[in-house]
Order: sequence, then C-alpha cells, then structure tokens
Amino acid sequence: MKIEKVYIKTYGCQMNVHDSERIKGILAEHSIALVETPEAADMAVFNTCSVRAKAEQKVFSDIGRLRPIKKKRPDYKIAVCGCIPQVQREALLQKNPLIDLVFGVNNISRFMEFVTQAELGKRHTHVIDDYALDEYEVSARRDDPMRAYVTIMNGCDNFCSYCIVPYTRGREQSRPVAAILDELHSLVATGVREVTLLGQNVNSYRGLDGAGTAITFPELLRLVHAIPELVRIRFVTSHPKDFTEELIEAMKLPRICKYLHLPIQAGSDRILGLMKRGYTAAEYLAKVAQLKAAIPDIALSSDFLVGFPSETEEDFQETLRIVEAVEYAQIFAFNYSPRPETVAAKMEEQIPFEVMNERLNRLFAKQNEIAERARQQFAGQTLPVLVEGWSKNNTQMLAGRTDTNAIVHFAGDDALIGTLVMVRITDVKLYSMTGEVVR
Ligand code: SAH
Ligand code: SF4
Ligand code: F3S
Repeated sequence: MKIEKVYIKTYGCQMNVHDSERIKGILAEHSIALVETPEAADMAVFNTCSVRAKAEQKVFSDIGRLRPIKKKRPDYKIAVCGCIPQVQREALLQKNPLIDLVFGVNNISRFMEFVTQAELGKRHTHVIDDYALDEYEVSARRDDPMRAYVTIMNGCDNFCSYCIVPYTRGREQSRPVAAILDELHSLVATGVREVTLLGQNVNSYRGLDGAGTAITFPELLRLVHAIPELVRIRFVTSHPKDFTEELIEAMKLPRICKYLHLPIQAGSDRILGLMKRGYTAAEYLAKVAQLKAAIPDIALSSDFLVGFPSETEEDFQETLRIVEAVEYAQIFAFNYSPRPETVAAKMEEQIPFEVMNERLNRLFAKQNEIAERARQQFAGQTLPVLVEGWSKNNTQMLAGRTDTNAIVHFAGDDALIGTLVMVRITDVKLYSMTGEVVR
C-alpha cells in the first residue's frame, strides 16, 4: 500500500527535533502529507530518545497504544528512528512485532528508500555508525519561519560515565564550514532571523574550511556573525572542560546572545570525577566568574544529574551551593537513570529512587527561590525583544524573547511579528514577564 500520510512524534533533545524537521522536509518534497494524529496516518514515525529509561518507556507505551489501529489496518506501518535504534538495532523488530521499520540517526536522508521497502511489506533495520558528509544536505521543514536549528556537529567523544549519547550518536563529526554557512545563507533568504547552532559539545567543533584548515568554534561563531541578517545567534551545548577565553571573546560580538548553557551536572568533585566530566567545581566556578566579568548581563543555565551512584547528602549539598553561587536563569535537573553500556550502570551504591527524588525536589525549590529573586532585576528595565507571535495562553498579547531567552508578553499588532522591539518590563513572574512596547 502506498504511504500518503505520515504522523511523526519526537522525543528528546534539539538534535532529534531537528532530525524530525529533516524528515518533514523529505515528506514535503515527495508530496506526502504530514498529519496530526496517528489515526489519520498510513505510517507513524517515532523519533526516539534513550538518555533516560523513562524516555524509552514512554515510546514503547505510545507504540503499544497503536495496537488497535494495526489490528484494523494490516497495512498500517510503524517506524522507530532516532537514538533507541542506535543501541538496540535489530532487536527492536524481534522484541516488538508492532514495529515495521527501524532506522537510526545517521541515514535520515534515505528515508524515502526505507518507506518504499516498508510499502512492500518487508520489515527492515537500517542503522549505521557514521554519517556521510552530504547527510545534512536534506532541506528541513521548520515550523517556525523566524528561528532555526542548524547542526554543526554530531556525536560525542566524551563518554561521561552515566551517558548513553556516545553510543547513540557515535563519534564526534564536525560539518565543513562551507556547508554550515550555505545552509545559513539559504535560511536567512527565507526570513530566518535567529539561529541555534547544535552539537553535543560545540566547543570541540573542528570543521574544515575551503583550504582544509580546521576551524575552531569561536572562529565559526565569527563567520556566522558576519551574516548581517541574523539578529540572534545561539548555540548548545557547551562542555565546561572545553570552554575557553577565546569563546568568551567571541561571545562579546553584539548579535551573539548573552545566554550560555553550561552544564555542570554536580557540585561535588568526587562525583564529578566518577562522572568523568574533566573539571572540578572550582574550575567551573572560575570560568563562570571570568565570563560574568567579561559579559556582565550574561544569563546562564545548566543541567544537573541528581543521585549519581554513591552520591551522599554532603555531595548533594555541594550541588545546592553551585546553584546558589552561579544564580542560573534556568536549570534542567534529572534523577540519575542507569543506562545500558555505560560504566556508571555497573557501579555499586546505586541511590534509592525516594532519596534521589527528594534531593531533586530540594534542588528545584532552591533554584525557584533564587531565580525568582534574580529575575526581579528586570523590573523597570527596557530590553530588546524578538517578537515571535501571538501568545499561546493569552491571544490578546504578543510573545517574544529577550536576548537572555526570557519570555515577555506585551500588547501590539501583527506588524511587529518578526521584528526586534524595545519593551519596558512592568511585571516579573516566575516563568514569564509582562511589558509594554516603548516607541
Ligand atoms: N551534551 C550535553 C547533554 C546531553 S544529554 C552535555 O554534555 O551537557 C542531556 C542531559 O541529560 C545531560 O546534561 C544530563 O544532565 C542528562 N543525562 C544524561 N545521561 C543521563 C542519565 N543516565 N540519567 C539521567 N540524566 C542523564
Ligand atoms: Fe553525554 Fe557527556 Fe557527551 Fe554530554 S558530553 S553527550 S553528557 S557523554
Ligand atoms: Fe536523547 Fe539522543 Fe538527544 S538520547 S537527549 S535524543 S542525542
């Protein structure tokens, strides 16, 4: 049966979000409709994440829910792609009879071939370890006309002891400079004004330029900044061990957002050592201090992993101290989840769920208290806001973001969408701010 309508569900990080955008680009090129529900489709695609056990469980329960559709419509296809296939491979087809097609993160550009095979009724697995240099030439279909993700590198060589990503995304590979700049030029031609450069560890970017010379990440940032139409340039993720003064200098460029995601994971040096992060808390804090001195209005965010094997209450107290010392604008914190293949999964002294969950709640409470206090500084300030569109919660108001990624709501009209306006902040809440446009 011909597949004419496809449903896609995406789990996980920005890398996966962008991979789904690339699948959507391929669908559009082949006039295959993208539909909103699995019921309306001929094929459902699950773009999966395996960073925590919960993320995996969610996928399998979502797939299980399609059992009645498959029973009624024997030609209905279910595809699983993204990070889970990179580890589980053929086993997925054996384990789960509902799945028809499995492919990984490195050959999305061949999606149509896979669809054709699925149409013939064959069950197949297509997982490869490395991607070809033209893999990213596929033109992605982005929902947001103004903001775009652009992959600059893929994979990770760090092997933090808890993390499955090096096993799912494979070894680090940087895209050549020209390919990235070409993509950016074609994006700005369609109206994109804000770009987020993506990689698991952008600070170790080493892409080749036309002369075959390896370019560093700060050098790449300068080349991207030379595209005048880009109003805002963001990037994730920066690994603290590779965060350099050269990058701080590049971040001073006016259209590089004054926002940095710099995940510390934990505050105890003993735990950081066991995690194989490659820095101490003091080294991290010194880099933050240097950054704040150079760029005083910088906003910082971090990931935290709570309940790593053998974490004691004293270790956890050190994590709380980091949150107090840095005053993050935002944090992302997770309970530790043992992942297959990783070193930490085999460590003794795994922490009981109740203990880590209680710590996680205390971490969030501490952060909320600090963020609420820190955000009051914005009251009365006038800030540049990139207007994204009408607010989802209040359709009378426009919504946009500050350079530091804070959401601002204010009155205005359609003409402001896509432009940069000055907004005076009148009210600061925990997750958003309200203001008025200054003419
Ligand atoms: N490359 C990025 C993050 C990749 S994964 C970096 O190095 O920071 C995103 C986040 O998921 C990590 O920062 C970490 O906090 C969390 N994470 C990774 N493995 C995890 C695990 N086994 N259990 C719980 N959280 C995990
Ligand atoms: Fe995972 Fe560490 Fe690589 Fe980040 S740097 S993706 S946490 S192994
Ligand atoms: Fe998840 Fe893969 Fe991203 S495991 S966090 S979707 S790289």
